[in-house]
Amino acid sequence: MDIEKIMQNMTLEDKARAVEGFSWWWTQEYPELEVPKIQVSDGPHGLRKMYTNPETNEGGTITAVCFPAACATACSFDTELLEQMGHTLGKECQAEDVGVILGPAVNIKRSPLCGRNFEYISEDPYVAGKLASAIIRGVQAENVGTSIKHFAANNQEFERMYGSSEVDERTLREIYFPAFEMAVKEADPWTFMCSYNRVNGTYSSENPWLLNDVLRKEWGYKGMVMSDWGAVSDRVAGVAAGLDLEMPGSNGVNIQRICKAVQEGTLSEEALDTAVRNVLHLVERFIENRKEETFDRARDHDVAVAIAGECIVLLKNETVNEAKVLPLAKEEKVALIGGFAENPRYQGGGSSHIESYKVVSALSVAQDYGTFTYNRGFSDTLDKYEEELQKEAVEAAMAADKVVVFAGLPDLFESEGYDREHMQLPACQNQLISELVKTGKPVVVVLHNGSPVEMPWADDVAGIVEAYLGGEGVGEAVMDVLYGKVNPSGKLAESLPIKLSDNPSYLNFPGKNKKVDYAEGVFVGYRYYDTRQMQVRFPFGHGLSYTEFRYSNLRVSRESFTASEGVTVSVDVTNIGDRSGKEVVQLYVADRTGSAIRPVHELKGFVKLSLEPGETKTAQFTLDSRAFSWYDTEQGDWYAANGSYILEVGRSSRQIEYSKEVRIIGSREKPPVITPDVQLGDLLASPYTREFTLERLKPYMDKFQSNQSETEEMVEAVVRFMPLRSLRSFQYMTNEEVEAICEDLKKHVEEQMKQM
Ligand code: BGC
Repeated sequence: MDIEKIMQNMTLEDKARAVEGFSWWWTQEYPELEVPKIQVSDGPHGLRKMYTNPETNEGGTITAVCFPAACATACSFDTELLEQMGHTLGKECQAEDVGVILGPAVNIKRSPLCGRNFEYISEDPYVAGKLASAIIRGVQAENVGTSIKHFAANNQEFERMYGSSEVDERTLREIYFPAFEMAVKEADPWTFMCSYNRVNGTYSSENPWLLNDVLRKEWGYKGMVMSDWGAVSDRVAGVAAGLDLEMPGSNGVNIQRICKAVQEGTLSEEALDTAVRNVLHLVERFIENRKEETFDRARDHDVAVAIAGECIVLLKNETVNEAKVLPLAKEEKVALIGGFAENPRYQGGGSSHIESYKVVSALSVAQDYGTFTYNRGFSDTLDKYEEELQKEAVEAAMAADKVVVFAGLPDLFESEGYDREHMQLPACQNQLISELVKTGKPVVVVLHNGSPVEMPWADDVAGIVEAYLGGEGVGEAVMDVLYGKVNPSGKLAESLPIKLSDNPSYLNFPGKNKKVDYAEGVFVGYRYYDTRQMQVRFPFGHGLSYTEFRYSNLRVSRESFTASEGVTVSVDVTNIGDRSGKEVVQLYVADRTGSAIRPVHELKGFVKLSLEPGETKTAQFTLDSRAFSWYDTEQGDWYAANGSYILEVGRSSRQIEYSKEVRIIGSREKPPVITPDVQLGDLLASPYTREFTLERLKPYMDKFQSNQSETEEMVEAVVRFMPLRSLRSFQYMTNEEVEAICEDLKKHVEEQMKQM
């Protein structure tokens, strides 16, 4: 496509039309200019391609394969696996003529209550960024676009189309942006989808700081930005702010507005041209490298089953009668209980909902694994106590060797469009589990949920298997794990708090008066629980295996280094059990420099190793300057202070096996910001200003000493928290003198900085 030529032949109205969707799922077409339309489709974990039957004019959705939702795939901590899933999705898109699949969704799980957490990856931006990048690379290798969403700070459903997420810049940069930023730098998503909400008062769809300054200028993004469906408020402002494509379109209203604004000079034609160019470039990317593919649903279903097996997290596995309760043995009599064994909850509601090709329940395949009975025990759609069901279940449990309860959240409990109101399972399920525990039989709970639930019975049951929403093959994958055909290797990509009020956003979720204050700042998830040393039900990164791993020999390439040099960290991991398994080795960095208030540690690397019994492999991590930095809004940049950092290698955020201290050297010290308010202590602490201050303020400092006959150290301690201007009050410095000292200090700092 010759985009520039096409644009020369477009009228103003053609251009204004190009920047909005043609109906729900298509871009515009210009047959006379040989520009075809292309189709986009949800996403993220399967194809929700919609169509209209030309004969009946009725809409429908194609049948597709439902892969595990992001809450589950995140637990794989496996970038290769997710890249493979991306390839599969990309091929399906090619087969179905879909140019962009709308996902992945990388919003941070700020509260367990967000109704859409099931679609989001993690509470940790590094995990979200790495895994999203892997999916994007996979899809786009098939020459199909992705749309990373929802940019930005869209962490709840309550008032999602109007509310303002009030987030300080450091928190945005450290928690809510990095997954997007990493994806731009590591995977170059063809498109971005802006969020519905406002960020600090301005809609994302018309936020020039977000879309132009941060995304394009700072991160260097060259792709196209589309709106979330219906996220546009002021379209003209949106074009100027860098929103290229409005979806699903405005019924022409905004075409006229854009034309008028350009004609009247309130919108530059250049801004409109940029948007049109980005849309055309997207079309070009897709149509110029089409691939021949077929959508083989049976094949892809098997892929979905295999992926689900890699995502399941074994949370608890106690020893009962001298053996671990799991895996189950073929000859054991197992009572399967709970409606989710028959009708698994395997995906969430809303725009990601797939018309699934084939759903496999645990019950439907159970005969291939062992000896079992089945009882519903409770209703899987409602929170309704049914005495008869419970009674039958308890009787079945009494007659069995072991009990496996399939519990979870019914559809109604969590969905796009609204948030949960509490973190509990339906009461009837909790009650049944307690009754089953009373039988004295070992009870294993399998959970189907998109977001954490309270587990009041956690200490009483022998095993807990977190399946999340594992896609259409979840039943088979769960049975594979229960019976040990698959050795579980998933790890939690979010913390499971004991109760909702433990969560750091608790006091400020979901906000009031169309505003939600992210008052917990960077202390999200384990960054909060671990810093506060709080008990959690299960920590971030936790997950057991049927084998055991031993860590040894933590080493670093150098012990002191500049931030730009970075460091390589290695640790050996040995499978000391008797079956093959996979371990997710995690690397956390703890800043001990004291240069900012920071979480006690943050995840900066993970590696998934597959190990045969007796085998040892080395997990290697490369840490760059970002791994040590925090975002300093005063300097408008990332900053890794000189000093000590602890590198921690472990199995979860709470199970650190080894740690090692390293030092950063050679970082530019931050000069104090010079105003009359600067504290004398800061001037004395900084190498840029110490000598100058001692000399210039000597007469005033001396007065403190003689007045109260203190030592020089005491004087420094006394003046530490005094602003420069306070010398006016305490030592009769004139205002002119204060200002003159400020000016001289500023010049001095500038000169020093040039020399460093
Ligand atoms: C959702 C998006 C989705 C879009 C199209 C919106 O309501 O927020 O994630 O891609 O609809 O279905």
